[in-house]
Amino acid sequence: MEHRNYMGGQWVDSESSRTFESLDPATGEVVGVLPLSSAADAEKAVEAAAEAFNGWRLTPAPKRGEILFRVGQLLQERKEQLAQLVTREMGKVIAEGRGDVQEAIDMTFYMAGEGRRLTAHTVPSELPNKFATSLRDPVGVVVAITPWNFPIAIPSWKLSAALICGNTVVFKPASDTPVLAAELVKVYEEAGLPAGVLNLVTGSGSEVGDVLVKHPRVDVISFTGSTDTGRSVLTETANRIKRVSLEMGGKNAIIVMEDADLDLAVEGILWSAFGTTGQRCTAASRVIVHRAVERELAERLVDRASKMKLGNGLDPAVDVGPVINARQLQKIHEYTGVGLQEGAKLVVGGEIARQGELARGSFYPPTIFTGVRPDMRIAQEEIFGPTLAVISVDSLDEAVRVNNDTRFGLSSSLYTRDVNRAFEAIRDITTGVVYLNAGTIGAEIQLPFGGTRGTGNGHREAAWTALDVFTEWKTVYVDYSGRLQRAQIDLVEGIG
Ligand code: UN1
Repeated sequence: MEHRNYMGGQWVDSESSRTFESLDPATGEVVGVLPLSSAADAEKAVEAAAEAFNGWRLTPAPKRGEILFRVGQLLQERKEQLAQLVTREMGKVIAEGRGDVQEAIDMTFYMAGEGRRLTAHTVPSELPNKFATSLRDPVGVVVAITPWNFPIAIPSWKLSAALICGNTVVFKPASDTPVLAAELVKVYEEAGLPAGVLNLVTGSGSEVGDVLVKHPRVDVISFTGSTDTGRSVLTETANRIKRVSLEMGGKNAIIVMEDADLDLAVEGILWSAFGTTGQRCTAASRVIVHRAVERELAERLVDRASKMKLGNGLDPAVDVGPVINARQLQKIHEYTGVGLQEGAKLVVGGEIARQGELARGSFYPPTIFTGVRPDMRIAQEEIFGPTLAVISVDSLDEAVRVNNDTRFGLSSSLYTRDVNRAFEAIRDITTGVVYLNAGTIGAEIQLPFGGTRGTGNGHREAAWTALDVFTEWKTVYVDYSGRLQRAQIDLVEGIG
């Protein structure tokens, strides 16, 4: 099926008249054909967003919220249909496809509610008959660059938050999941979003993304994706003074102490490491286990991982869907070679799956290495696949040190029954998200989401913190004394 770009309220072909295909990673079938847009298309999208800004900025936020409530309702009505499309275009198993759409619904309703809140602070003035408050202003044109691993949820985090604050948006989705992006934009259109407020351009990052990021009319760039691309967004925009919010990689760990409930830990590890075929930025790619329970934990993990069923995620019996594309499949497999070369012990998986139907798609089985040293590449670099490195330690202190010692800092988890040690670890862990007795994935939208070090650049998505990315603070003083009052100088008599 053919899709188009969306600009100024119209569905249009690319000026380039070139197209590209989006493929089902389980079968190789074509899911959709999309414009391979040019620099000129990107320019037009920014112009449309810039033109729509004033009208949208002046639309009362509760009205903006009403449109978002309608978006949330439409997503609810289409949940099953969209979930199936998530599985077809991205590959995650159908239960997770539904979760992806649900996360979009949750975020959209949350942000719709912000239309009647957008909380700001009013504080007392130091002078009499003077009013001191602060307002959140929209920033302007937002470029949302989104990844393929949460093809409905992550765009919804960015679009709903940017729009409720009164910004207009140019949306550049990942080239692996552009059909879902077009379907999401259709929902916004049907919900009554005015023309130009949301614009969609599909195509390559190097051509379209580059123009969007550098464009002088673009004020905010909200990016989720690889660390390399994120870094180049930041350097490209550094001397243009733009606001850039980056959400990048992870090398998340689950710590399992000797007193942990091992049954629970096994479930949490399998879900966090092999759910979404390991393709979440929150996925657990390291287990840091106390030496006393290392062998037992590893044996149980291997036993369970070897029984996980690979296949097309539309089949509800499948545990592990495909990885996103053939390039990523190769990269994951290369890391297996790296692990072996570094001297880690491959205990399960490690071969590209080609049996029967699997040969049509990009499948890699759950893969576990034991005997991993914390400085090995498989324990330091983000693989973004179903590869798990098991590292053993002698104490919680050591576990926390190993946990913190990577260039990323998104999510961590600790399994223990000792409440005192748990609180110490919560204090000392330096990732943006911490879980106790639960795996590293599954953050809820009403709390800040993001990470430290190389994972991000200090911003948080979701919750009230997303509003800080998409608004500019304006401080307002109203002096109703009718005379000159000098702050810091005209002190109220008897005080100071
Ligand atoms: C991501 O992988 O980029 O916490 C986001 C989670 C999801 C979001 C993941 N709610 O796993």
